[in-house]
Amino acid sequence: MNLALINIKQLVTVSADGNRVKTGKEMQNLSIIENGAVLIDGEKIKWLGRMEDLSMGSIKEADVLDCIDRIVMPSFVDAHTHLLFDESRENEFAMRSAGATYQEIASRGGGIISTVKEVRNTSKKDLKKNARRWLNAMLRQGTTTVEIKSGYGLDMDNEVKMLEAITELNNEEVLTIVPTFLGAHAIPPEFRDKKSDYVHLITEKVIPYIGKKKLAVFCDAFCEKGYFDVDDCRTILLSGLKHGMKPKLHGDELSSGGGAELAAEVNAISVDHLEHISEKGIDALAKASVVAVLLPGVSFFLNHPHAPARKLIDTGVPVAIASDFNPGSCMSYNIPLMMTIACTQMKMSPEEAIAASTLNAAAALNLSTEIGSIEIGKKADMIVLDIPNYKFLPYHFGENHVEKIVKNGVVLEF
Ligand code: NIG
Ligand code: FE
Repeated sequence: MNLALINIKQLVTVSADGNRVKTGKEMQNLSIIENGAVLIDGEKIKWLGRMEDLSMGSIKEADVLDCIDRIVMPSFVDAHTHLLFDESRENEFAMRSAGATYQEIASRGGGIISTVKEVRNTSKKDLKKNARRWLNAMLRQGTTTVEIKSGYGLDMDNEVKMLEAITELNNEEVLTIVPTFLGAHAIPPEFRDKKSDYVHLITEKVIPYIGKKKLAVFCDAFCEKGYFDVDDCRTILLSGLKHGMKPKLHGDELSSGGGAELAAEVNAISVDHLEHISEKGIDALAKASVVAVLLPGVSFFLNHPHAPARKLIDTGVPVAIASDFNPGSCMSYNIPLMMTIACTQMKMSPEEAIAASTLNAAAALNLSTEIGSIEIGKKADMIVLDIPNYKFLPYHFGENHVEKIVKNGVVLEF
């Protein structure tokens, strides 16, 4: 035993009793222990329970972290980001304030392609330097696991450069970083009007190389009008699967396009966005075991409609929330802010928002047997919050309530 969190006012375990994800009414149940304690051995949780059942005898004083009047919960898992980029795009933000839409800006050469141009001209070293700034800030806000997508390179060398940077950051930084290949993020300028040649390049050259070098855990694609259609995405995701990468999908974001149905068909680990998911898509997801990753910050930032969170949860679809941090559609990685938007605009309860950004977000990365809840045998990734109760977290928004962070059983110093 090398760390004991004691006198915890509310220990929010988010325990799922051995299930990989919470669905339906279970999302409402956070398995809270009042006046609790957690014992940690090495990286893992060894015991948890009520203070009155804890025997302090064998615990050394130096190993104690007194959490009196504090809330302890699993640290956040951000299951969807495009964190590796060079220039920010506040000019587009100002254009949208003046009335332009995300799609209009993209069709004028802005959007994803403008970041691709920058990233192609930026060294791996500089990309990593930028990323570290965001990673440190998101860690301070309570996120200890983050997925990062490629997708701003859009050719062999630059996609590999991005994935190598992500892999190196995972080895060098405190956070756990999960790499996703998103070669099908947009059609690169040199393939304009030759989309099928680009899909061929991805499936025949880039994916086999990335698979062989084990540079990505997941393969993702942007299923949307003007980007990649359902058939393109199916071809790409099946090619990824053949080379060891589980499918993910950006689906039904700007229009209803069969993304959710495709995700169910290929048994994707998650389908993300879903602002325009169809009734058929909701039913398909409920029958499959695909996690719906909702991105409240994108709808907030772009002033787009929100995904039908209530309907998804009430139909039994496992729902997660993530930031989608990127320079175009959500310049924030503040997970508690995403929770607030989920509660105020999407009618999710504080309990559902917490389950969605911890255990269910871990499930969206296929990691929920290791992280996402406070249970015996799981990794000790937790946060200590200076708030009177867990509901206060999404309620008092725009403030960092994280006082201490425990990552892999170690209390981080700031
Ligand atoms: O998830 N929808 C596609 N891709 C990103 C936006 C990336 C960008 O604008 O640079 C998203 O919102
Ligand atoms: Fe995205």
